[in-house]
Amino acid sequence: MQTRIAGCKFLVTAGPTIERIDPVRFISNHSTGKMGYAIAAELAARGAVVTLVSGPVALETPAGVRRVDVESAGEMWRECTELWPQMDGAVMCAAVADYTPAEVSPVKIKKGPEASPDLILTLKPTKDIAAGLGRTKRPGQLLVGFALETDNEEVNALDKLRRKNLDMIVLNSLRDAGAGFGGDTNRITVFTSAGTKTAYPLESKTAAAAHIVDMFFE
Ligand code: CTP
Repeated sequence: MQTRIAGCKFLVTAGPTIERIDPVRFISNHSTGKMGYAIAAELAARGAVVTLVSGPVALETPAGVRRVDVESAGEMWRECTELWPQMDGAVMCAAVADYTPAEVSPVKIKKGPEASPDLILTLKPTKDIAAGLGRTKRPGQLLVGFALETDNEEVNALDKLRRKNLDMIVLNSLRDAGAGFGGDTNRITVFTSAGTKTAYPLESKTAAAAHIVDMFFE
């Protein structure tokens, strides 16, 4: 296992993206990047050459990892699609915004008049990075995704595995205490395109990262 990972080139995405509305406001989500950073650290510790494409987070870059900071889903798309052809694998942990403002105001948006105070923001879809990498995946390249779900967990995860042409998907449910955003623990279930399902108990994100990497190239 170790020998297959050592020397392999991996792309890892992590953290949230932020989508600007105007010079002072943005749309984002609760991702802290901890799971993705734990995977980048685990891969680097096993001798992989890791490029971490990260949204804005308050985390130290793991030892030996090359980190590329991005802000928006569009920037993350550009970095990842450029890097992907040179990679042996990619682990898509980022919580990428699915929508971004159709227009970014160059000046701070002011409150409307009292008579019509509502602000209607038009959002347009972003590109799905994992699906984009899945479309151009070469034989031998490993593509791993995450699914953070609140309901219909297994059905949604398996649908994403197939739709995005992933080799493996890591499911975590926001219904599980101790799993999901922010904390240092996670409870993961890993599904592979070969049809296997492996459930792990609640454990640290570091331990979960090791379990996920253990399943690569099995
Ligand atoms: N993903 C991505 N680019 C996007 C959206 C998602 O690379 N624009 C990746 C995530 O990093 C994750 C996987 O796709 O590995 C699933 O992300 P998720 O947000 O759970 O799924 P979506 O496809 O966005 O579906 P939905 O929001 O409808 O659940």
